[in-house]
Amino acid sequence: MTDKGLEEVVAASTRLSDVDGRAGRLWYVGYDIHELAARSTFEEGVYLLHNLRLPTEAELEELNERLVGEREVSRFLAELMPTLAQQTSPMSMLRTSVSAASAYDPDGWDDSPEANERKAMRLIAKTPTLIAMYHRMRTGQEVVPPNAKLPHAANFLYMLSGQEPEQEDAAALDTTLVLYADHTMNASTFTARVIASTLADMFSAITGAIAALKGPLHGGANEEAMKMLEEVGAPERAEAYVKAKLARHERIMGFGHRVYKTEDPRATHLRRLSQEIGERKGDPRWFEISAEIERVVGEEKGLHPNVDFYAASVYHLLGIPHDLMTPVFALARMSGWTAHVREQYADNRLIRPESEYIGPRNQRYVPIEERSAQAAR
Ligand SMILES: CC(C)(COP(=O)(O)OP(=O)(O)OC[C@H]1O[C@@H](n2cnc3c(N)ncnc32)[C@H](O)[C@@H]1OP(=O)(O)O)[C@@H](O)C(=O)NCCC(=O)NCCS
Repeated sequence: MTDKGLEEVVAASTRLSDVDGRAGRLWYVGYDIHELAARSTFEEGVYLLHNLRLPTEAELEELNERLVGEREVSRFLAELMPTLAQQTSPMSMLRTSVSAASAYDPDGWDDSPEANERKAMRLIAKTPTLIAMYHRMRTGQEVVPPNAKLPHAANFLYMLSGQEPEQEDAAALDTTLVLYADHTMNASTFTARVIASTLADMFSAITGAIAALKGPLHGGANEEAMKMLEEVGAPERAEAYVKAKLARHERIMGFGHRVYKTEDPRATHLRRLSQEIGERKGDPRWFEISAEIERVVGEEKGLHPNVDFYAASVYHLLGIPHDLMTPVFALARMSGWTAHVREQYADNRLIRPESEYIGPRNQRYVPIEERSAQAAR
């Protein structure tokens, strides 16, 4: 029997993250996501995922310096960007840029574990720069170079807007990056591991992961959720909107999950952030619309919001353009993807599942000049 969604298949052993879908729990390397969301930074999460332990102060300081030192993108990418900014969507830009970044990586064709660790850190460090550069160029604004004094999340907001963000905004973005950093065998991570299992290089694996993340059933959901919040426009319109959508058998983006059968623990934090930022900025409307949609979808379908639903209003309130919401997911997940690729290389076996053949059998080859339309079919 075909397991179409591979729901029951355990395709890899990992030390990176674990999910209990019934209890609504998530851990990175054994640390509860609730504790990490409250206490960790994105950079600390990067260290954890890549070293399987939390860093000391000195180790974290060293990692921060490395990431800051790797933020600038190559001249090749900077020259490619105006064309990408004019011609492609943000996720296509990111997919193409990561693929193109392999051309000038200082480690070149070196696929040793040490080189792959360096490639991973470079990809993590440069992704925010690529996204911000793209956005500044497409909107006809000066590109803002990275600010070495700012941490990862704050620096991204700075490069995007040209202004140093408020501390609370930077902290909120940082928490979302921790929440998005890794999530077991999701579609994009699986894609990355399949590519890595052929012993193709890190850039190939991550390019594939970005391609998989792009779809609305995966990372594209936060952007789609934001479109819905705008379409609804006011809390009192949510009920009729959701009911009409469900009557048309359409999916409500940002709801439901393959693994979680209860509240997604990441949604708990994003809901709180959405409310807090909305109140702080005097713009509670997006949270109120979201909460009302959550109530109606819960009553009508028994579905819970996933990570992408409240991320939409949080990112909107942080001034992140709607079509950059999925790239921001990628910026965070870069830490998990690269760690999974390294883990796959470390204990590799080619991933190659079976398929169930359902086509005709025992066909007879008819020479082309003897084929009627019927026979050719
Ligand atoms: C995430 C998702 C793909 C998981 O789906 P899945 O495990 O494959 O579940 P299925 O697609 O088999 O759906 C099971 C049932 O729930 C319904 N369902 C699941 N998610 C739904 C949603 N967001 N809105 C409406 N109905 C939904 C399906 O229509 C189906 O109902 P049916 O049995 O009456 O046909 C799915 O919930 C979805 O499409 N969500 C919206 C996109 C999204 O937010 N993605 C981000 C995930 S983090």
